[in-house]
Amino acid sequence: MASRGSILLTGGAGFIGSHVAVEVAAAGWTPVLLDNFCTSERSVVARVGEVVGAPVRCIEADIRDAQAMRAAFGSTPMHAVIHLAGLKAVGESVEKPELYHDNNVRGTEVLLAAMDEFGVRRMVFSSSCTVYGMPQRLPIDESHPLGAINPYGQTKLDIERMLDRWADACIDRHVCSLRYFNPVGAHASALIGESPLGIPNNLMPFVVKVARGELPELGVFGGDWPTHDGTGVRDYIHVVDLARGHVVALEQLDSMHHDCINLGTGAGLSVLDVVHAFERVNGVKVPYAIGPRRAGDAAAAYADASLAEQRLGWRARLGLDDMVRDAWAFATRSAC
Ligand code: NAD
Ligand code: UD1
Repeated sequence: MASRGSILLTGGAGFIGSHVAVEVAAAGWTPVLLDNFCTSERSVVARVGEVVGAPVRCIEADIRDAQAMRAAFGSTPMHAVIHLAGLKAVGESVEKPELYHDNNVRGTEVLLAAMDEFGVRRMVFSSSCTVYGMPQRLPIDESHPLGAINPYGQTKLDIERMLDRWADACIDRHVCSLRYFNPVGAHASALIGESPLGIPNNLMPFVVKVARGELPELGVFGGDWPTHDGTGVRDYIHVVDLARGHVVALEQLDSMHHDCINLGTGAGLSVLDVVHAFERVNGVKVPYAIGPRRAGDAAAAYADASLAEQRLGWRARLGLDDMVRDAWAFATRSAC
């Protein structure tokens, strides 16, 4: 089948980008990855190719490097950009706010300037439910007040505003900011998945490390939250569902100006729901101990996912059992 055109995926070697690349290829587009591998491994590119069944092109570049970005757009006409490149560790962003601003916000400015130079007018952007700050009502819909509670969140808000201005400046520009809730899981092939460097900050990679015996136990951040079992509630979404959401957004970009759309399941699951499902589905033990709350955490956060259904015809298909099974399959396969 002839390609429908090339799609540039900044951050395409990352956890989410690698899964998006697979779905982009499955929909008949040619994914072109662009990554500086600051939080991912080069071997991911070949593994994406293995899943797709053909080699995938990857440009090694930093989005802040204007010359390299010009060279990337000059090498192939791009139908659109899916902009996933970014740093995402909340704690690190508190320690290094300038780095986060430079990498995420200034990097996006450089990317947009290169797109303008080459007449690329379409973008899907990796935003986050962090733009809602502390939840003021549940479920969280797109009209929920916006606010940042850490420098990472501020970069996502700054970029959404930059994209408002970019879209407003020209009628022919089309942007969709996808506000992800909590992406977890891995591709069913177990060839790509999440492998954060060092001690993970997020729940699922931490659970995986405990199940593998690399960490002694999971510290549960609070057992006295006003939730069904006292532990924190979030909207976990399978990364393959999330990746499909990018393709449906891409297909409908031309009817958008700058639309901001939640990608979540709409279901709230607790830390212990995740732990118990992980143990039951995978037949492994996840020792845990309830400890103090983590600063900056909310009791519960989950999406009103109805706009994605109305606007994109998208809804999550995979459930918690799929998420924990696939996360474990990837972790145990990549250990071999
Ligand atoms: P990831 O760290 O696995 O992937 C990010 C990729 O971007 C990496 O491959 C990294 O090397 C690359 N990158 C970072 N800075 C770059 C730069 N200056 N130039 C070129 N490449 C660069 O993270 P992920 O989970 O795949 O996240 C992808 C995007 O989704 C990020 O923008 C993140 O903020 C956003 N997001 C993630 C989550 C989540 O929980 N994973 C939630 C909401 C939003
Ligand atoms: C965190 C970030 C958020 C970011 C998101 C995705 C904070 C305060 N928030 O959100 O800005 O958008 O990751 O990258 O860092 N938990 C434990 N023990 C652990 C790890 C987590 O009990 O070792 C609990 C948390 O308290 C929470 C749930 O598990 O209730 C999910 O945590 P996590 O995966 O870090 O995601 P968020 O808290 O949603």
